[in-house]
Amino acid sequence: SWILSVYHDSFPPQNTSLCGCDKCLKEYDPWFSELMNASPEPFLAMKSNISQDTFTWWKGIQFEKRSFSYYNTTVERIFQVFPPSPDFAESSPDHCRTCAVVGNFGNLNGSRYGPLIDFHDIVIRMNHGRTKGFEKDVGTKTTHHVMYPQSSTNLDNTTHLVLFPFKISDLQWLLKSLTQGIIIQHKSDTYTVVILSPAFMKYVHFVWLKNKGHYPSTGFLTLILSMHMCDEVSVFGFGADRAGNWNHYYEILKNQRLRTGNHHGNLEYELIQELYQRQKISFFRGW
Ligand code: C5P
Repeated sequence: SWILSVYHDSFPPQNTSLCGCDKCLKEYDPWFSELMNASPEPFLAMKSNISQDTFTWWKGIQFEKRSFSYYNTTVERIFQVFPPSPDFAESSPDHCRTCAVVGNFGNLNGSRYGPLIDFHDIVIRMNHGRTKGFEKDVGTKTTHHVMYPQSSTNLDNTTHLVLFPFKISDLQWLLKSLTQGIIIQHKSDTYTVVILSPAFMKYVHFVWLKNKGHYPSTGFLTLILSMHMCDEVSVFGFGADRAGNWNHYYEILKNQRLRTGNHHGNLEYELIQELYQRQKISFFRGW
């Protein structure tokens, strides 16, 4: 059966024994802790209703016309079909949860990062990011795949689906796809689907990006999310080509004026660099 994950997290204000890695993300850094502590629960859960304010912001990102109560009814329906699953592993002094966040930047080509990426416990890929034919550079393992309907790809039964809903029809798509077995040919009995909360998107937009850009990119949302799931985060495949375009490793860029779409690519990149300089993440540039 399909199950949805409930998720709990917290950022302690000071150093206790936080995780089993040499260095834990949750180690106190005032700049970082302030940003992280402002986070709501990242994933939608049975009881996590969003506020009218959050809905109003979320409605604007892809021009949703339908009402707040329609949204609430849709979320309720999802949880009627898919009961919540056990939590993701929480941080503990006994183990070290490592994450590789793999963006789709073209300079993964020739990087030979494959084995390094696969070495992480959790490997998160996104949208059309694929491994077939690119194994040497991007690896083979995908424990989590972030997508929305327009960027969806088939997943195998070792990969969790992480839905980023940008409008109500994205939630309806999930219901339809899972009940009809469209996206995932799953052979296992249990499978976890998680849905990013609109409240988390709003948090990343206002708290991290200070309301700049139309809304955060899939990759930036995923990176901030990974810092809630892991004790150590390695970032691959983020950056832009010389002309400032978000090109992809798996295709030749056709639209030379793509830039970073309606996302504030520069600001997102600066924040990623700041996280790297503060040794919160490892950042792999490609060549
Ligand atoms: O293009 P797409 O949205 O599928 O890529 C996933 C994410 O990877 C983007 O949202 C962006 O954050 C990141 N990316 C990047 N540089 C690129 C391509 C993608 O930073 N050249």
